[in-house]
Amino acid sequence: MITLKIIVENRDNCSFKGESGLSVLVDAFGKTFLLDTGYSDLFLKNAQLLGIDLSKIEKVILTHGHSDHTNGIPFLPDGKTIIMHPAGFKDRWSIRKKEYVGFPMTEDELEKHHNVLISRESIKFYENCYFLGEIPMVVDFERNGNFSTTLDEQLTQKDYTEDDSGVAITTSKGLFVITGCGHRGVCNTIEHAKEITGQQKIWGVFGGFHLRNLEKQKEVIDRTIEYLNKNKIKALFLGHCVTDEVIDYFEKNMPNVEIFRLASGKEFSLDLTPLMQRQK
Ligand SMILES: [Fe+2]
Ligand SMILES: [Fe+2]
Repeated sequence: MITLKIIVENRDNCSFKGESGLSVLVDAFGKTFLLDTGYSDLFLKNAQLLGIDLSKIEKVILTHGHSDHTNGIPFLPDGKTIIMHPAGFKDRWSIRKKEYVGFPMTEDELEKHHNVLISRESIKFYENCYFLGEIPMVVDFERNGNFSTTLDEQLTQKDYTEDDSGVAITTSKGLFVITGCGHRGVCNTIEHAKEITGQQKIWGVFGGFHLRNLEKQKEVIDRTIEYLNKNKIKALFLGHCVTDEVIDYFEKNMPNVEIFRLASGKEFSLDLTPLMQRQK
């Protein structure tokens, strides 16, 4: 079984407040990790409502350094093992909002509170669970990525967000991939997950694809759908930086795929079993 508890996502849901950010508790076959920490201390309150004791979580994966995924870090109880890419510490500014959206602490400050594992390479952090490390941009229609920040306040220095990563879980039905924002492209992320794990079959993807505007990103969206259909994907869990109009379009054009929408406080239990080595 894989369970996902959405602690923070952009959408409110019943008594759970949302914010532009992501934080998810993942349990993969009995091993638990936190993926991202949202934009503020909201994840503490929502975790409590979900009955999650954050002091008991040992591992935290940061998909990338943007503040909507890392601003919660200073509020996290001490003593975690934090896995992230070195470029996650970069200073960044949002092109859209024209404000600072980089990592909230220095590397030294973070290391005073946690055991920090910094890696460009992939890391198998639990049996069947892989931090993807740096994602090469190899798929032709995703060569330009979906970059939303610069490395300077004057908004001139393009940020290729090379820290944008994710997690792959190998299951007997195929890979289950979790993205943060998907800046380097969801298809690139899947291709990299295949390369790292050696598993070619893909069962599902969960997270943000950074597809916000159906009109402006129509070609990438259409080709992403074509890629996912060709890979015979079974389930998609979409939200964060995927807008409702884009999710509607995915639903319309992927009638054979189960599509779920993310929101704060939602929980998903997936009837999946771990991949045994010889099944690859
Ligand atoms: Fe994001
Ligand atoms: Fe981001």
